[in-house]
Amino acid sequence: MSGKRNIGRLLLIGTSVMGAGVVAIYAASALQLSDNEPAAAAETSTSSVMPPPVPADFERGRQVYDRWCAACHARDPGHPGTQSLEIKYGGAIPAALEDRSDLTPQITAHFVRNGAGLMPFFRRTEIGDADLRDLSAYLAEDE
Ligand code: HEC
Repeated sequence: MSGKRNIGRLLLIGTSVMGAGVVAIYAASALQLSDNEPAAAAETSTSSVMPPPVPADFERGRQVYDRWCAACHARDPGHPGTQSLEIKYGGAIPAALEDRSDLTPQITAHFVRNGAGLMPFFRRTEIGDADLRDLSAYLAEDE
């Protein structure tokens, strides 16, 4: 009983630390925008370096989610990710990632590459950049 409460407290501490992380993501994505400008200007002579953007593949995104995220973030009870997000947001927004409409690709990429609390980070050898793009698009999609 009290063990459970302690875990709850740990999660609360973890998630409040993460609040600061989310603010950092917004700052980081603003920085990225300005970083990209010189690259765009140089693009004409180095077009082989910057391939044209490929539209995101939602079906692939769902597969990546099922393989790497669903064990912790699926909708039904007993998944640590869904459970901690339920505690973090107290039901104000959906606890399951797939039901959220506020997960921008920047936020998803931040957590996937950095992890958070109990959540591990994922290397490019596990989730490549193209898979991350599809996964982020899948989670950003309004269903
Ligand atoms: C081992 C379990 C686990 C796995 C696997 C996992 N997560 Fe998490 N995730 C968590 C936990 C737990 C949290 C809550 C963070 C904390 O512990 O403070 C979390 C938080 C998040 C958040 C933050 C949401 C918010 O509003 O704070 C995002 C986004 C996220 N995960 C996305 C993913 C994605 C995408 C994947 C798959 C690539 C994934 N997670 C895989 C456990 C996991």
